[in-house]
Amino acid sequence: MTTQISAPLNGTNIPDGETSGDAGVRIPLLGLGTWPMTGDECTEAVSSALEAGYRHLDTAENYGNEDAVGRAVVGSGLARDEVFVTSKFNRRWHGPVDSVRAGLEAALERAGLDYFDLYLVHWPNPDQGSYVQACESLVELTGTGLIRSWGVSNYKPAHLQQVLEAGLVPAVNQIHCQPLFAQPHVQEANAAAGVLTAAYTPIGRGSELLQQPAITRIASRLGRTPAQVVLRWHVQQGRIALPKSADPQRQRENLDVFSFELTAEDLATVDALDSATPSDSFMDADEFGH
Ligand SMILES: NC(=O)c1ccc[n+]([C@@H]2O[C@H](COP(=O)([O-])OP(=O)(O)OC[C@H]3O[C@@H](n4cnc5c(N)ncnc54)[C@H](OP(=O)(O)O)[C@@H]3O)[C@@H](O)[C@H]2O)c1
Repeated sequence: MTTQISAPLNGTNIPDGETSGDAGVRIPLLGLGTWPMTGDECTEAVSSALEAGYRHLDTAENYGNEDAVGRAVVGSGLARDEVFVTSKFNRRWHGPVDSVRAGLEAALERAGLDYFDLYLVHWPNPDQGSYVQACESLVELTGTGLIRSWGVSNYKPAHLQQVLEAGLVPAVNQIHCQPLFAQPHVQEANAAAGVLTAAYTPIGRGSELLQQPAITRIASRLGRTPAQVVLRWHVQQGRIALPKSADPQRQRENLDVFSFELTAEDLATVDALDSATPSDSFMDADEFGH
């Protein structure tokens, strides 16, 4: 089985800087993305990933697959504390703690789980004006036993700044991050605040990114696949990466990135593929959200 590497989480931060009693939470750097799988296809894919050694799963209310992911976790025979489960909630729950708690309890019920290891605000939805309050509610819920840590997703530096000014530090900001759209300004804002960056769409949906000569050249030299080179680029720089695959062989390939290293020159070569600017956006979190 591939050796997994994990990072410590600060997700139990509460406003006065103390931790709420669960400071030892660690997050495996490589997790399985589960969108857009649902139903039996999703349960089968997650089951094969757990068999292959994955110990981190990324689901969300919006994917409609918390039930399918939960079934695979429960059916795996693994102890619950051996698997790190992240979920995310939609805009309708943003608000005071009772509201976020209602969304969380419904999600846990769907998943058939007693708790999530990490629970994220999926999009800030600034038009609603409650993305800071949603974080305050998550802080209150951390330590109830229903979530072990909390974080955000798709928060731009300006959104994160509002959260920090309220005295709150998310454990994770999950963002679109891949070599052609790396968002270094968001990564830097996260790092400066002590927030771990988690990369979604980490291999660019397996499309033209994996045919870039800069990547295929490194892959041939190392006897690795292009996807492995890109995933290694993420984890070697301390990012969580959440590649989705329904295919057992690609799942194993994507997980097997802890037994080789990229050189500093390789890292710089992959870094150089990013030609996006801070104003470029696939889905602008000031406009889009759910
Ligand atoms: N927070 C958010 O707003 C947000 C937004 C989008 C996604 N996400 C999360 O991030 C996860 C991953 O992102 P994503 O699904 O957009 O993109 P991705 O993981 O970069 O790419 C997935 C695609 O790549 C293919 N693939 C997987 N491994 C491969 C390999 N080794 N070689 C070639 N192709 C490969 C998959 O096909 P097969 O299945 O056939 O292998 C699938 O079509 C999602 O599943 C979801 O959990 C979060």
